[in-house]
Amino acid sequence: MTENLRIAVLCERAAGETRVAATPETVKKFSALGARVAVEAGAGAEASIADADYAAAGAEVGSAEAVIAGADIVLGVQGADVTLLAGAKPGVWLAAGLDPFGARARIDAYASAGVEALAMEFMPRITRAQSMDILSSQSNLAGYKAVVDAAGTYGRAFPMMMTAAGTISAAKVFVMGVGVAGLQAIATARRLGAQVSATDVRSATREQIQSLGAKPIFVENVAGIEGEGAGGYATEMSPEYQKAQGELVSAHIAKQDIVITTALIPGRPAPRLITDAQLATMKPGSVIFDLAVAQGGNVEGSVPDHIVVRHGVKIMGYSNTPAHLPADASALFARNLYNFLSAFWDKAAGRPVLDEEIGTAIRLTQGGKVVHPRLLG
Ligand code: NAI
Repeated sequence: MTENLRIAVLCERAAGETRVAATPETVKKFSALGARVAVEAGAGAEASIADADYAAAGAEVGSAEAVIAGADIVLGVQGADVTLLAGAKPGVWLAAGLDPFGARARIDAYASAGVEALAMEFMPRITRAQSMDILSSQSNLAGYKAVVDAAGTYGRAFPMMMTAAGTISAAKVFVMGVGVAGLQAIATARRLGAQVSATDVRSATREQIQSLGAKPIFVENVAGIEGEGAGGYATEMSPEYQKAQGELVSAHIAKQDIVITTALIPGRPAPRLITDAQLATMKPGSVIFDLAVAQGGNVEGSVPDHIVVRHGVKIMGYSNTPAHLPADASALFARNLYNFLSAFWDKAAGRPVLDEEIGTAIRLTQGGKVVHPRLLG
Protein backbone atom coordinates (compact mmCIF):
# COMPACT_ATOMS: atom_id res chain seq x y z
CA MET A 1 0.00 0.00 0.00
CA THR A 2 1.34 3.47 -0.88
CA GLU A 3 1.87 5.98 1.88
CA ASN A 4 -0.76 8.72 2.05
CA LEU A 5 0.12 12.03 0.44
CA ARG A 6 1.26 14.59 3.00
CA ILE A 7 0.11 18.22 2.65
CA ALA A 8 1.81 20.88 4.80
CA VAL A 9 0.47 24.31 5.68
CA LEU A 10 2.82 26.81 7.32
CA CYS A 11 2.24 30.11 9.10
CA GLU A 12 2.52 32.98 6.64
CA ARG A 13 5.66 34.93 7.53
CA ALA A 14 5.38 37.97 5.20
CA ALA A 15 4.77 41.27 7.00
CA GLY A 16 1.09 42.18 7.10
CA GLU A 17 -0.08 38.79 5.83
CA THR A 18 -3.02 37.58 7.90
CA ARG A 19 -4.37 34.84 5.66
CA VAL A 20 -3.85 31.09 5.80
CA ALA A 21 -3.83 28.60 2.93
CA ALA A 22 -6.09 25.94 4.46
CA THR A 23 -9.19 25.98 6.63
CA PRO A 24 -10.80 23.18 8.65
CA GLU A 25 -13.20 22.75 5.72
CA THR A 26 -10.42 22.10 3.21
CA VAL A 27 -8.51 19.93 5.70
CA LYS A 28 -11.59 17.68 5.88
CA LYS A 29 -11.94 17.59 2.11
CA PHE A 30 -8.28 16.73 1.54
CA SER A 31 -8.56 14.01 4.17
CA ALA A 32 -11.57 12.61 2.33
CA LEU A 33 -9.34 12.28 -0.74
CA GLY A 34 -6.91 10.22 1.34
CA ALA A 35 -4.31 12.91 2.09
CA ARG A 36 -2.87 13.70 5.50
CA VAL A 37 -2.77 17.41 6.32
CA ALA A 38 -0.32 18.98 8.77
CA VAL A 39 -0.76 22.61 9.90
CA GLU A 40 1.81 24.70 11.75
CA ALA A 41 0.56 25.79 15.18
CA GLY A 42 -0.88 29.30 15.03
CA ALA A 43 -1.23 29.34 11.22
CA GLY A 44 -4.90 30.31 11.37
CA ALA A 45 -4.75 32.66 14.35
CA GLU A 46 -5.18 35.91 12.45
CA ALA A 47 -7.97 34.41 10.35
CA SER A 48 -9.78 33.44 13.59
CA ILE A 49 -9.11 29.71 13.15
CA ALA A 50 -7.82 27.99 16.29
CA ASP A 51 -5.35 25.12 16.23
CA ALA A 52 -8.05 23.03 17.89
CA ASP A 53 -10.35 23.61 14.91
CA TYR A 54 -7.72 22.23 12.54
CA ALA A 55 -7.11 19.28 14.84
CA ALA A 56 -10.86 18.59 15.06
CA ALA A 57 -10.97 18.55 11.27
CA GLY A 58 -8.30 15.83 11.25
CA ALA A 59 -5.09 17.84 10.81
CA GLU A 60 -1.86 17.19 12.63
CA VAL A 61 -0.83 20.46 14.33
CA GLY A 62 2.83 21.05 15.18
CA SER A 63 6.01 23.04 14.70
CA ALA A 64 7.14 24.15 11.24
CA GLU A 65 9.83 21.44 11.16
CA ALA A 66 7.41 18.71 12.21
CA VAL A 67 4.80 19.84 9.68
CA ILE A 68 7.19 20.06 6.76
CA ALA A 69 8.94 16.74 7.43
CA GLY A 70 8.18 14.40 4.55
CA ALA A 71 5.69 16.78 2.90
CA ASP A 72 4.70 16.06 -0.70
CA ILE A 73 2.82 19.33 -1.18
CA VAL A 74 3.15 22.64 0.67
CA LEU A 75 0.27 25.12 0.43
CA GLY A 76 0.79 28.83 0.99
CA VAL A 77 -0.86 32.18 0.50
CA GLN A 78 2.53 33.68 -0.32
CA GLY A 79 5.72 31.75 -1.10
CA ALA A 80 7.60 30.36 1.91
CA ASP A 81 11.30 31.01 2.28
CA VAL A 82 13.15 28.07 0.77
CA THR A 83 14.96 27.34 4.05
CA LEU A 84 11.59 26.49 5.62
CA LEU A 85 11.05 23.77 3.03
CA ALA A 86 14.11 21.74 4.05
CA GLY A 87 12.88 18.36 5.22
CA ALA A 88 10.13 18.09 2.63
CA LYS A 89 10.28 15.26 0.06
CA PRO A 90 12.51 15.81 -2.98
CA GLY A 91 10.45 17.44 -5.74
CA VAL A 92 7.92 18.79 -3.21
CA TRP A 93 5.22 20.95 -4.79
CA LEU A 94 4.73 24.45 -3.45
CA ALA A 95 1.34 25.86 -4.50
CA ALA A 96 0.91 29.51 -3.51
CA GLY A 97 0.81 33.08 -4.77
CA LEU A 98 4.51 33.29 -5.67
CA ASP A 99 4.89 36.78 -7.17
CA PRO A 100 6.97 35.32 -10.04
CA PHE A 101 8.22 38.66 -11.38
CA GLY A 102 8.68 40.43 -8.04
CA ALA A 103 10.35 37.57 -6.15
CA ARG A 104 12.61 36.17 -8.85
CA ALA A 105 15.53 35.34 -6.53
CA ARG A 106 13.26 33.16 -4.43
CA ILE A 107 12.00 31.32 -7.53
CA ASP A 108 15.63 30.58 -8.48
CA ALA A 109 16.20 29.28 -4.95
CA TYR A 110 13.20 26.93 -5.29
CA ALA A 111 14.69 25.57 -8.51
CA SER A 112 18.10 24.96 -6.88
CA ALA A 113 16.45 23.23 -3.93
CA GLY A 114 14.49 20.90 -6.24
CA VAL A 115 11.12 22.40 -5.26
CA GLU A 116 8.40 22.33 -7.93
CA ALA A 117 6.91 25.81 -7.57
CA LEU A 118 3.32 26.32 -8.81
CA ALA A 119 2.29 29.99 -9.13
CA MET A 120 -1.42 30.19 -8.46
CA GLU A 121 -1.62 33.70 -9.93
CA PHE A 122 -0.71 32.25 -13.34
CA MET A 123 -3.86 30.10 -13.37
CA PRO A 124 -5.25 30.50 -16.91
CA ARG A 125 -8.53 32.39 -17.28
CA ILE A 126 -10.51 29.52 -18.69
CA THR A 127 -13.93 28.40 -17.55
CA ARG A 128 -12.82 25.20 -15.86
CA ALA A 129 -10.18 27.05 -13.82
CA GLN A 130 -12.51 29.77 -12.50
CA SER A 131 -12.94 28.05 -9.15
CA MET A 132 -9.14 27.81 -8.79
CA ASP A 133 -8.43 31.48 -9.51
CA ILE A 134 -6.92 33.27 -6.51
CA LEU A 135 -6.78 36.60 -8.35
CA SER A 136 -10.56 36.57 -8.79
CA SER A 137 -11.44 35.41 -5.31
CA GLN A 138 -9.15 37.90 -3.62
CA SER A 139 -9.95 40.84 -5.96
CA ASN A 140 -13.62 40.41 -5.32
CA LEU A 141 -13.11 40.87 -1.58
CA ALA A 142 -10.66 43.71 -2.19
CA GLY A 143 -13.23 45.62 -4.24
CA TYR A 144 -15.73 45.32 -1.41
CA LYS A 145 -13.23 46.31 1.26
CA ALA A 146 -12.03 49.36 -0.69
CA VAL A 147 -15.54 50.81 -0.74
CA VAL A 148 -16.30 50.00 2.89
CA ASP A 149 -13.03 51.51 4.12
CA ALA A 150 -13.33 54.55 1.86
CA ALA A 151 -16.82 55.03 3.33
CA GLY A 152 -15.30 54.82 6.81
CA THR A 153 -12.79 57.54 5.98
CA TYR A 154 -15.30 59.79 4.21
CA GLY A 155 -16.73 62.35 6.59
CA ARG A 156 -20.25 62.08 5.18
CA ALA A 157 -22.90 59.42 4.63
CA PHE A 158 -23.32 57.40 1.41
CA PRO A 159 -27.10 57.19 1.01
CA MET A 160 -29.49 60.06 0.50
CA MET A 161 -31.30 60.66 3.79
CA MET A 162 -34.39 62.77 4.30
CA THR A 163 -34.56 63.71 7.94
CA ALA A 164 -36.52 66.21 10.03
CA ALA A 165 -33.34 68.27 10.21
CA GLY A 166 -32.99 68.35 6.43
CA THR A 167 -31.81 66.25 3.52
CA ILE A 168 -28.39 64.71 3.01
CA SER A 169 -27.54 64.05 -0.61
CA ALA A 170 -26.18 60.72 -1.86
CA ALA A 171 -22.41 60.33 -2.26
CA LYS A 172 -21.09 60.16 -5.81
CA VAL A 173 -18.75 57.21 -6.34
CA PHE A 174 -16.62 56.73 -9.45
CA VAL A 175 -14.99 53.33 -10.10
CA MET A 176 -12.04 53.29 -12.51
CA GLY A 177 -11.21 49.82 -13.83
CA VAL A 178 -14.10 47.38 -13.95
CA GLY A 179 -12.54 43.94 -13.60
CA VAL A 180 -13.40 41.64 -10.74
CA ALA A 181 -12.57 44.19 -8.01
CA GLY A 182 -14.27 47.06 -9.85
CA LEU A 183 -17.52 45.15 -10.35
CA GLN A 184 -17.67 44.32 -6.66
CA ALA A 185 -16.83 47.93 -5.80
CA ILE A 186 -19.75 49.12 -7.93
CA ALA A 187 -22.14 46.62 -6.34
CA THR A 188 -21.01 47.53 -2.82
CA ALA A 189 -21.26 51.29 -3.38
CA ARG A 190 -24.74 50.80 -4.84
CA ARG A 191 -25.80 48.74 -1.81
CA LEU A 192 -24.63 51.57 0.42
CA GLY A 193 -26.86 53.95 -1.51
CA ALA A 194 -24.29 55.91 -3.53
CA GLN A 195 -24.76 57.25 -7.05
CA VAL A 196 -22.21 55.24 -9.00
CA SER A 197 -20.40 55.73 -12.30
CA ALA A 198 -17.56 53.68 -13.74
CA THR A 199 -15.05 53.46 -16.59
CA ASP A 200 -12.69 50.92 -18.17
CA VAL A 201 -10.64 50.56 -21.32
CA ARG A 202 -12.40 47.30 -22.24
CA SER A 203 -15.67 48.15 -23.99
CA ALA A 204 -17.21 44.83 -22.86
CA THR A 205 -17.52 46.34 -19.39
CA ARG A 206 -20.05 48.98 -20.50
CA GLU A 207 -22.96 46.55 -20.28
CA GLN A 208 -21.69 45.11 -17.01
CA ILE A 209 -21.61 48.59 -15.48
CA GLN A 210 -25.16 49.27 -16.63
CA SER A 211 -26.42 45.92 -15.38
CA LEU A 212 -25.27 46.88 -11.88
CA GLY A 213 -27.23 50.12 -12.05
CA ALA A 214 -24.21 52.40 -12.53
CA LYS A 215 -23.48 54.93 -15.26
CA PRO A 216 -20.73 54.10 -17.80
CA ILE A 217 -18.24 56.89 -18.54
CA PHE A 218 -16.35 56.02 -21.74
CA VAL A 219 -13.94 57.59 -24.20
CA GLU A 220 -15.66 57.72 -27.60
CA ASN A 221 -14.39 58.08 -31.17
CA VAL A 222 -10.70 57.60 -30.51
CA ALA A 223 -8.46 55.20 -32.43
CA GLY A 224 -7.32 52.09 -30.54
CA ILE A 225 -10.40 52.20 -28.35
CA GLU A 226 -10.59 48.46 -27.67
CA GLY A 227 -8.36 47.80 -24.73
CA GLU A 228 -8.96 44.08 -24.38
CA GLY A 229 -5.92 41.87 -24.89
CA ALA A 230 -5.09 38.23 -24.24
CA GLY A 231 -7.08 36.33 -21.62
CA GLY A 232 -9.58 39.15 -21.08
CA TYR A 233 -6.89 41.41 -19.61
CA ALA A 234 -6.30 45.04 -20.54
CA THR A 235 -3.54 46.19 -22.88
CA GLU A 236 -1.61 49.46 -22.69
CA MET A 237 -3.52 52.19 -24.53
CA SER A 238 -2.33 54.54 -27.32
CA PRO A 239 -1.10 58.05 -26.35
CA GLU A 240 -4.15 59.47 -28.18
CA TYR A 241 -6.48 57.36 -26.08
CA GLN A 242 -4.64 58.23 -22.87
CA LYS A 243 -5.02 61.94 -23.62
CA ALA A 244 -8.75 61.60 -24.32
CA GLN A 245 -9.20 59.50 -21.19
CA GLY A 246 -7.34 62.14 -19.15
CA GLU A 247 -9.67 64.89 -20.36
CA LEU A 248 -12.78 62.83 -19.72
CA VAL A 249 -11.63 61.93 -16.23
CA SER A 250 -10.72 65.53 -15.41
CA ALA A 251 -14.22 66.71 -16.22
CA HIS A 252 -15.90 63.91 -14.29
CA ILE A 253 -13.67 63.61 -11.27
CA ALA A 254 -14.22 67.16 -10.05
CA LYS A 255 -17.83 66.22 -9.26
CA GLN A 256 -17.06 63.00 -7.38
CA ASP A 257 -16.89 62.35 -3.64
CA ILE A 258 -15.26 58.91 -3.69
CA VAL A 259 -13.05 57.41 -6.39
CA ILE A 260 -12.01 53.74 -6.36
CA THR A 261 -9.20 52.88 -8.79
CA THR A 262 -8.47 49.25 -9.69
CA ALA A 263 -6.65 49.40 -13.03
CA LEU A 264 -3.91 46.84 -13.67
CA ILE A 265 -2.03 45.65 -16.73
CA PRO A 266 -0.40 42.23 -16.31
CA GLY A 267 3.41 42.35 -16.06
CA ARG A 268 3.57 46.17 -16.12
CA PRO A 269 3.33 48.93 -13.54
CA ALA A 270 -0.25 50.06 -12.87
CA PRO A 271 -1.40 52.76 -15.32
CA ARG A 272 -1.50 56.30 -13.90
CA LEU A 273 -5.15 57.38 -14.00
CA ILE A 274 -5.24 60.42 -11.73
CA THR A 275 -2.58 63.15 -11.67
CA ASP A 276 -1.94 65.67 -8.95
CA ALA A 277 -3.48 68.41 -11.12
CA GLN A 278 -6.70 66.37 -11.38
CA LEU A 279 -6.70 65.79 -7.64
CA ALA A 280 -6.60 69.55 -7.14
CA THR A 281 -9.98 69.88 -8.91
CA MET A 282 -11.73 67.55 -6.45
CA LYS A 283 -13.76 68.77 -3.50
CA PRO A 284 -11.99 68.88 -0.14
CA GLY A 285 -13.08 65.88 1.94
CA SER A 286 -13.24 63.59 -1.09
CA VAL A 287 -11.64 60.15 -0.71
CA ILE A 288 -9.70 58.09 -3.23
CA PHE A 289 -8.98 54.42 -2.61
CA ASP A 290 -6.13 53.23 -4.85
CA LEU A 291 -6.42 49.45 -5.06
CA ALA A 292 -3.37 49.36 -7.36
CA VAL A 293 -1.12 51.13 -4.83
CA ALA A 294 1.06 48.03 -4.33
CA GLN A 295 1.68 47.79 -8.11
CA GLY A 296 2.89 51.40 -8.36
CA GLY A 297 -0.49 53.09 -7.95
CA ASN A 298 -3.14 54.54 -10.26
CA VAL A 299 -3.08 57.82 -8.34
CA GLU A 300 -0.17 60.24 -8.14
CA GLY A 301 1.05 60.47 -4.56
CA SER A 302 -0.64 57.35 -3.15
CA VAL A 303 1.44 55.54 -0.51
CA PRO A 304 0.69 51.96 0.60
CA ASP A 305 -0.92 51.70 4.05
CA HIS A 306 -1.08 55.47 4.61
CA ILE A 307 -3.76 58.10 4.22
CA VAL A 308 -2.10 60.89 2.27
CA VAL A 309 -3.93 64.24 2.16
CA ARG A 310 -3.36 66.33 -0.98
CA HIS A 311 -5.44 69.38 -1.87
CA GLY A 312 -7.81 68.35 0.92
CA VAL A 313 -8.40 64.95 -0.73
CA LYS A 314 -7.62 61.80 1.25
CA ILE A 315 -5.78 59.16 -0.78
CA MET A 316 -5.64 55.68 0.70
CA GLY A 317 -4.75 52.14 -0.29
CA TYR A 318 -3.36 48.98 1.26
CA SER A 319 -0.32 46.96 0.25
CA ASN A 320 -2.42 43.82 0.76
CA THR A 321 -6.15 44.52 0.73
CA PRO A 322 -7.45 40.92 1.06
CA ALA A 323 -5.36 40.60 4.24
CA HIS A 324 -7.79 43.10 5.78
CA LEU A 325 -10.53 40.46 5.54
CA PRO A 326 -8.51 37.47 6.77
CA ALA A 327 -11.32 35.04 7.55
CA ASP A 328 -13.22 35.33 4.27
CA ALA A 329 -10.09 35.78 2.17
CA SER A 330 -8.58 32.62 3.69
CA ALA A 331 -11.79 30.65 3.18
CA LEU A 332 -11.86 31.49 -0.53
CA PHE A 333 -8.10 31.13 -1.04
CA ALA A 334 -8.12 27.73 0.66
CA ARG A 335 -11.03 26.61 -1.55
CA ASN A 336 -9.17 27.77 -4.67
CA LEU A 337 -6.26 25.53 -3.64
CA TYR A 338 -8.54 22.61 -2.86
CA ASN A 339 -10.49 23.01 -6.12
CA PHE A 340 -7.19 23.05 -7.99
CA LEU A 341 -5.61 19.96 -6.42
CA SER A 342 -8.81 17.92 -6.26
CA ALA A 343 -9.62 18.57 -9.93
CA PHE A 344 -6.42 16.73 -10.84
CA TRP A 345 -6.61 13.98 -8.23
CA ASP A 346 -5.47 10.67 -9.60
CA LYS A 347 -7.01 7.97 -7.43
CA ALA A 348 -4.52 5.27 -8.41
CA ALA A 349 -1.52 7.51 -7.70
CA GLY A 350 -3.13 8.94 -4.55
CA ARG A 351 -2.04 12.42 -5.56
CA PRO A 352 -2.80 15.14 -8.11
CA VAL A 353 -1.37 14.81 -11.61
CA LEU A 354 -1.53 18.07 -13.56
CA ASP A 355 -2.60 18.21 -17.18
CA GLU A 356 -0.59 19.92 -19.89
CA GLU A 357 -2.59 23.14 -20.17
CA ILE A 358 -2.75 24.11 -16.51
CA GLY A 359 0.57 22.49 -15.55
CA THR A 360 2.48 24.48 -18.16
CA ALA A 361 0.68 27.69 -17.25
CA ILE A 362 1.52 27.64 -13.55
CA ARG A 363 4.71 25.55 -13.15
CA LEU A 364 7.69 27.83 -12.55
CA THR A 365 10.37 25.31 -11.61
CA GLN A 366 10.91 21.59 -12.19
CA GLY A 367 13.85 19.17 -12.08
CA GLY A 368 16.17 21.79 -10.58
CA LYS A 369 15.46 24.43 -13.24
CA VAL A 370 13.27 27.45 -13.88
CA VAL A 371 10.99 26.22 -16.67
CA HIS A 372 8.30 28.89 -17.13
CA PRO A 373 8.56 30.67 -20.50
CA ARG A 374 7.63 34.05 -18.97
CA LEU A 375 10.62 33.77 -16.63
CA LEU A 376 13.07 32.53 -19.24
CA GLY A 377 12.71 35.17 -22.00
P1 NAI B 1 -7.17 43.34 -13.71
O1 NAI B 1 -7.08 43.22 -12.23
O2 NAI B 1 -6.00 42.89 -14.54
O3 NAI B 1 -7.46 44.88 -14.08
C1 NAI B 1 -8.53 45.58 -13.48
C2 NAI B 1 -9.32 46.36 -14.51
O4 NAI B 1 -8.59 47.54 -14.90
C3 NAI B 1 -9.59 45.61 -15.83
O5 NAI B 1 -10.97 45.60 -16.06
C4 NAI B 1 -8.85 46.42 -16.88
O6 NAI B 1 -9.49 46.41 -18.13
C5 NAI B 1 -8.86 47.80 -16.25
N1 NAI B 1 -7.89 48.76 -16.80
C6 NAI B 1 -6.60 48.55 -17.18
N2 NAI B 1 -6.05 49.70 -17.63
C7 NAI B 1 -7.00 50.68 -17.51
C8 NAI B 1 -7.04 52.07 -17.79
N3 NAI B 1 -5.97 52.71 -18.29
N4 NAI B 1 -8.19 52.75 -17.55
C9 NAI B 1 -9.27 52.11 -17.04
N5 NAI B 1 -9.30 50.79 -16.74
C10 NAI B 1 -8.18 50.09 -16.97
O7 NAI B 1 -8.48 42.63 -14.27
P2 NAI B 1 -9.33 41.46 -13.63
O8 NAI B 1 -10.18 41.97 -12.56
O9 NAI B 1 -8.38 40.40 -13.26
O10 NAI B 1 -10.29 40.97 -14.81
C11 NAI B 1 -10.00 41.06 -16.19
C12 NAI B 1 -11.01 40.23 -17.01
O11 NAI B 1 -10.79 38.83 -16.84
C13 NAI B 1 -12.46 40.47 -16.64
O12 NAI B 1 -13.20 40.54 -17.83
C14 NAI B 1 -12.86 39.24 -15.88
O13 NAI B 1 -14.24 38.97 -15.97
C15 NAI B 1 -12.04 38.19 -16.59
N6 NAI B 1 -11.83 37.02 -15.72
C16 NAI B 1 -12.03 35.75 -16.21
C17 NAI B 1 -11.80 34.63 -15.42
C18 NAI B 1 -12.01 33.24 -15.94
O14 NAI B 1 -12.63 33.07 -16.98
N7 NAI B 1 -11.49 32.20 -15.29
C19 NAI B 1 -11.34 34.78 -14.02
C20 NAI B 1 -11.16 36.15 -13.63
C21 NAI B 1 -11.40 37.22 -14.45
